Amino acid sequence: MPLPFRFAHFSDPHLPLAPGWPARLRTLAGKRLLGFLSWRRKRHRIHRPEVLAALLADVAAHAPDHIVVTGDLINIALPDEFDRARDWLERVGPPERLSLVPGNHDATVRVPWNLGLGRWQLWMAGDMAGDEAETALPFVRVRGPVAFVGLSTAVPSPPLLATGRVGAEQAARLEEVLRDLGRRDLFRVVLMHHPPLRVGGSERTALTDRHRVQAALARAGAELVLHGHHHREHVGYLPGLAGAIPVVGVPSASAAPVGRVQPARWIRFTVEQPEDGRWRLAALVRGYDGAGFRTEARFAVHYPDVGPR
Ligand SMILES: [Fe+2]
Repeated sequence: MPLPFRFAHFSDPHLPLAPGWPARLRTLAGKRLLGFLSWRRKRHRIHRPEVLAALLADVAAHAPDHIVVTGDLINIALPDEFDRARDWLERVGPPERLSLVPGNHDATVRVPWNLGLGRWQLWMAGDMAGDEAETALPFVRVRGPVAFVGLSTAVPSPPLLATGRVGAEQAARLEEVLRDLGRRDLFRVVLMHHPPLRVGGSERTALTDRHRVQAALARAGAELVLHGHHHREHVGYLPGLAGAIPVVGVPSASAAPVGRVQPARWIRFTVEQPEDGRWRLAALVRGYDGAGFRTEARFAVHYPDVGPR
């Protein structure tokens, strides 16, 4: 795929619960019940299908080479939510053009793989090796000059918590694949639902073992980390092998401007490699203004020369 390579990032669409959801109340318990009550009380007024539809139309109008979605497609991990989200994924982009990592809402409770996250496997599978799709996380998907590395931070957490965890195994593998992809001179984009640093004041929603991801990034490097989870804009930095690594998060893709909620936003990233061989990344931030999407900001990242690896 020729440069420049363009990809779109959005997150946390929180597709609406199926029609008839008020009747579900008696069938739910525990964390699902709490999630359901929260949806009924306020979340259904925030996460609006018409906002998400407008965002998707705007993304499509920009015709990106790839789309990345950093989790929370659904709300309380009901089997029919996984099915409906799969139908939605099929409409948004084919698996070779859309990459997905799960969020904590997608793992509200443990659901058997084939009824739950396995329904979305095609969008989370690494590049094919023979006939078998690689299903282990982190996945690696190389598209043009970019390597998308997808991590799962989604684990069921106790009621009132929304923590995430990567685990020692994924973190070790992350470091390994980042080193390998760096040697191959690919532009490495790490996808994860929870950010690998604390955003906001509370440990109740944080990635509990973020130090593991931070250590892997510091030792192996990466060019960009994209996340969702907090439903708000975020730009931070973490130390990398050859300079700071930008860490960028976006508000929910379906958020209407209700109260203090940050309205929906997505970012179009353009990866370029000018003649000096150093990477350059340009970002176009598109936000919802109550009627449609417009450009809210632009920023660019110029990367240092990393030298021999
Ligand atoms: Fe979310």
